[in-house]
Amino acid sequence: VKGLSLIRHGETEFNREHRIGGDPRLTDKGRQQARLLAAHFRDRHISSVVTSTLRRTREMADILLEGRPEVERYALKEFDEIDAGVCDAMTYDEVRQLRPGIWESRKADKYNASYPGGESYASMKERVERGVKKALYLSGNAENLVIIGHQAVNRMILSHFLLRREEDVPYVYIPQDRYFHIVSTQSRKLVELLPF
Ligand code: F6P
Repeated sequence: VKGLSLIRHGETEFNREHRIGGDPRLTDKGRQQARLLAAHFRDRHISSVVTSTLRRTREMADILLEGRPEVERYALKEFDEIDAGVCDAMTYDEVRQLRPGIWESRKADKYNASYPGGESYASMKERVERGVKKALYLSGNAENLVIIGHQAVNRMILSHFLLRREEDVPYVYIPQDRYFHIVSTQSRKLVELLPF
């Protein structure tokens, strides 16, 4: 990868309420974060933008690409957020109170713990890797690929480029006002966390 910008969508109502999953839209603050992102990228070349199929990442791309019709964009299901199964749309507090078994198993082994009817980090690894390959292929291994993803998905993508112990992957910090810029060739590997 000659230049991958790995971005998380901006704030949603679900983020504010510490609510899991769903398909929420960006809040005013989230849209403001998207405008700051667009300003940051104004004079930077973007070859293509790949999002998930969920609204929060597509809205982020809409704002990023306003006035830039030449940039190709794709939405991949492989980059949709971890499927929380029976816990989808619950708050973390509700999971702790109503589904203590799930809460405890995530605490004990977050990487391997599966949401009933959904996924674990371990089980989403394969499809996220397939998404990375697709994204690189669609962009022709381009120099300035932008991926707009989600907290768990971006942790997996990051761990694809940066060696991390599996048990640490679910705890990597994925902010909403900074992004990871990754340059990875045979001779060098550089990962920076940049503000926008
Ligand atoms: O809270 C936002 C979110 O994207 C949820 O939709 C998702 O379940 C979660 O982050 C993943 O992070 P964690 O595995 O730490 O709960």
